[in-house]
Amino acid sequence: MKLQSFVLAALLAGSASAVRPLTVSGGNFVNSAGDRFVIVGLAYQPGGASGYDPASGKDPLSDPDICLRDAAVMQRLGINTVRVYNVNPDVNHDMCMSIFNSVGIYVALDVNSPLAGDSINRHDPGSSYNEGYIKRIYSVVDAFKGYPNLLGFFAGNEVVNDVPSASVVPPYIRSIQRDLKNYIAKHASRTIPVGYSAADDPTRRPMWAYLSCGDDADSRSDFYGLNSYQWCGDSTWESSGYQGLVDTFKNTSIPLFFSEFGCNKISPRPFGEIAALYGERMISSWSGGLVYEYSQETSNYGLVQIDSNGDARLLKDFDNLQGQYNNINLNLIKNKSSSTTSANHPKCEDTFILLGHSDTFNTSTTLLPNPATDLLENGSGNTNVGKLVSVTQTKTPHKVFTSTGVQIDGIEIKMLKDDESNTPSGENTSSAAGGSGGSSGNKKKGAAEGLRVSAVLVVGVTVVVGFWGLV
Ligand SMILES: *[C@@H]1O[C@H](CO)[C@@H](O)[C@H](O)[C@H]1NC(C)=O
Ligand SMILES: *[C@@H]1O[C@H](CO)[C@@H](O)[C@H](O)[C@H]1NC(C)=O
Ligand SMILES: *[C@@H]1O[C@H](CO)[C@@H](O)[C@H](O)[C@H]1NC(C)=O
Ligand SMILES: *[C@@H]1O[C@H](CO)[C@@H](O)[C@H](O)[C@H]1NC(C)=O
Ligand SMILES: *[C@@H]1O[C@H](CO)[C@@H](O)[C@H](O)[C@H]1NC(C)=O
Repeated sequence: MKLQSFVLAALLAGSASAVRPLTVSGGNFVNSAGDRFVIVGLAYQPGGASGYDPASGKDPLSDPDICLRDAAVMQRLGINTVRVYNVNPDVNHDMCMSIFNSVGIYVALDVNSPLAGDSINRHDPGSSYNEGYIKRIYSVVDAFKGYPNLLGFFAGNEVVNDVPSASVVPPYIRSIQRDLKNYIAKHASRTIPVGYSAADDPTRRPMWAYLSCGDDADSRSDFYGLNSYQWCGDSTWESSGYQGLVDTFKNTSIPLFFSEFGCNKISPRPFGEIAALYGERMISSWSGGLVYEYSQETSNYGLVQIDSNGDARLLKDFDNLQGQYNNINLNLIKNKSSSTTSANHPKCEDTFILLGHSDTFNTSTTLLPNPATDLLENGSGNTNVGKLVSVTQTKTPHKVFTSTGVQIDGIEIKMLKDDESNTPSGENTSSAAGGSGGSSGNKKKGAAEGLRVSAVLVVGVTVVVGFWGLV
């Protein structure tokens, strides 16, 4: 008994591979088991965009105690993906990425930052598409390419958002996607999806059509994210405009998801759009989405309030979202035959791209030359190349409180077995506070049960190996 629990503890603590990389197959993300992967996720940028300061030596994925706190909270919430907007390619992300990996949470990452030189100027893209910019985005690739739970890179976020930007920027986005994919092909050991996050404005359809068309796989998007806030409060399928979204994009040949969603005009948010997004009418062409956002900032979209001492308080929005996640039909969203997306990329013809669009939109597929071919050949020079490490600590020193103010006892991460991503557990964290770390109150088979099964399996294997060792 003693030996078994020791071996078990060591194996679980040393585990460094809960997820395997996702790939894109037609209009879907798929995991290594061949299941469809649908994003159940959140935007994660504590401090907000203005909180990003490279001189601080910190970013959202650099402090293991904070990542332990948030991974434990997110695991209970039931998500499988976070989107992080601004990272510092020079700081060490190994422990945070390994913590999220161990609980089955993928990371979708923006390569840009709001700092001067780190993004494209939408009204004068030529001035910002230069060697310094390429060095920035290649440095981010080097810092993150080694993590299996890196879902993919956003090459841009809402760079096109008005008529002037739509008339010059589109060829730059395809050029940057080509630059990123060429770099990944030369300097990473696996394919990493590269895509775009779009504004929900009249450019949303031409942008999707332009980025998903043609035979040039290097410059084409591997996925298309839409930042959509059109379902507010107790909206419905009809009044929200979701039916229109489905009609507009139903022929997608690349995975499509909300790269941000969660209108907060009505507060607390009831999150009725979760049932629509993961239900039968939408799952045929959409791969889920990322709720905006984890932490409470001045814009009032938070699920969790972070105190100045590092303690966290779940908000009513957290409870409501968790309740909605618990009703997702997991069999439906994993089932590839629920998808009706197309595997064939349409031709890049103006008739297809501009269909029904009357404003100026640049449909040119003549790309700009990479302004830093030396970096493409020889590497960005960033020696801070991330890799998974053993996660030895599961408990955060920070306290976490439910929405009713009760401290949650023993909040900690629960490592999943290989190739398992996190799923909603059926738990109501705020009502199941205190207690034994969260498995109480499970209505469905969830993370905790999966862990228990794998633990028994691990002990069995160890015993057999020991036996043969004696012979
Ligand atoms: C399309 O964009 C490219 C790159 O910005 C630019 O050179 C070209 O003039 C634009 N085409 C039109 C028709 O505006
Ligand atoms: C969608 O695809 C079908 C079959 O390929 C085609 O008939 C239809 O015109 C397409 N619709 C749009 C809006 O592109
Ligand atoms: C979860 O528990 C909290 C606190 O008891 C409660 O306010 C909330 O309504 C519950 N949520 C659901 C979906 O049951
Ligand atoms: C997947 O969906 C198809 C079509 O809706 C259905 O026939 C099949 O039983 C589903 N498979 C599973 C494993 O749920
Ligand atoms: C790459 O580095 C090598 C060795 O430092 C150098 O000779 C070569 O010119 C570089 N390649 C480019 C394209 O700059």
